[in-house]
Amino acid sequence: EGVFTYDPGYGATGSCESKITFIDGQKGILLYRGYPVEQLAAKSNFMEISYLLLYGELPTKEQLARFDTSIRTHTMLNEGMLRFFTGFRYDAHPMAMLSAVVGSMSAYYHDTMDINNPDAREVFAHRILAKMPTIAAAAYKHTCGQPFVYPRNDLGYCENMLQMFFAVPAEPYEINPVAAEALDLLFILHADHEQNCSTSTVRMAGSSGANPYSAIAAGISALWGPAHGGANEAVLRMLEAIGDVKNIPKFVAKAKDKNDPFRLMGFGHRVYKNFDPRATIIREMCHKVLKQMGRTNSPLFDLALELEQVALKDEYFIEKNLYPNVDFYSGIIYRALGIPTSMFTVMFAIGRTVGWTAHWREMITDPNGRISRPRQLYTGEPTRDYVSIDQR
Ligand code: CMC
Repeated sequence: EGVFTYDPGYGATGSCESKITFIDGQKGILLYRGYPVEQLAAKSNFMEISYLLLYGELPTKEQLARFDTSIRTHTMLNEGMLRFFTGFRYDAHPMAMLSAVVGSMSAYYHDTMDINNPDAREVFAHRILAKMPTIAAAAYKHTCGQPFVYPRNDLGYCENMLQMFFAVPAEPYEINPVAAEALDLLFILHADHEQNCSTSTVRMAGSSGANPYSAIAAGISALWGPAHGGANEAVLRMLEAIGDVKNIPKFVAKAKDKNDPFRLMGFGHRVYKNFDPRATIIREMCHKVLKQMGRTNSPLFDLALELEQVALKDEYFIEKNLYPNVDFYSGIIYRALGIPTSMFTVMFAIGRTVGWTAHWREMITDPNGRISRPRQLYTGEPTRDYVSIDQR
């Protein structure tokens, strides 16, 4: 059974073999199935990358067309599921709705519950990818009290998502191609990131043989935390709290103070110790989106740029290798697209769903796979005798 090692947070533990994503944290390299994320971000699109992550190779035209059609035909939700949303309070956090509704899919789609059937696993993969934007949009519509908008299968993944979010029956809705392009890029950059907290959670929950919807719902719950996917929401709230460039030194000092739990949100990464290649790409996209949406004058973006500069020159951040990560800029783009702050982590979840699914499929078919079950270093009481209540 090997040598026992105490490794809090599993920073030095390899839990599986994987062929999906490669990261070199020192060099800032991120590869999906061997392809550099920079090339994919510049030349590919989210549908193609979803195929790549799930099947291991870039698709031919025919393969992509078939995959895309299949995803489009799975976008509808069972009508009964829509009624769940009305049961939530109007101010329910959309991540709470997302994890609950995705978990409940196991009560609706029985044809995909047999994890040992490769066809069922394939249908599950297409279905979850297709339905995530529909569920996310339903959560959003519930939050703002607008009627739910059904998916339109004549539209691509991101265009369809935008119309489900922002169309209202009373007015025609025109899809902004820059917004669709920005979303597509964000989804590409969020699509996978090897054994991060939520993906490891999906693998761990799935390793017990639990159905894949439950495993993904577990991943969504893990993503919600501010140290992980919840960071994009936390970044925006932090920038709003800073409010003005003149307050930056005060917040940087707080982040450096050992007795203050405050951290600069959007900074630091367990694996990247030089830079996060996704942050570099997102930063550029941020400029483009703000310019094309006519929001060149974005105080939040200016504040973010200044904070980045201050932190990058600060000894504490240099010494600890703390650089802006993917979440530092993504929120500013979402904000420019009109997506509310509470939905940011939901957007991350939509992009990451394909990664979770690829990992779940890899885990299920791993010949070395077995239930995940870490050990512990027991620091509690040694054996002692029970004392009856009247003698305590
Ligand atoms: N601000 C100030 N100090 C920090 C920060 C920060 N953002 N991040 C790490 N540190 C310090 C930390 O206090 C510790 O100091 P010391 O060695 O003196 O105790 C040192 O740097 C190492 O930190 P750690 O918490 O041991 O590192 P980790 O690998 O366990 O955590 C992290 C990585 C991303 C959770 C952490 O850097 C963090 O909390 N960052 C802010 C939240 C964030 O932006 N998360 C998004 C991550 S990227 C997208 C994703 O995965 O979802």
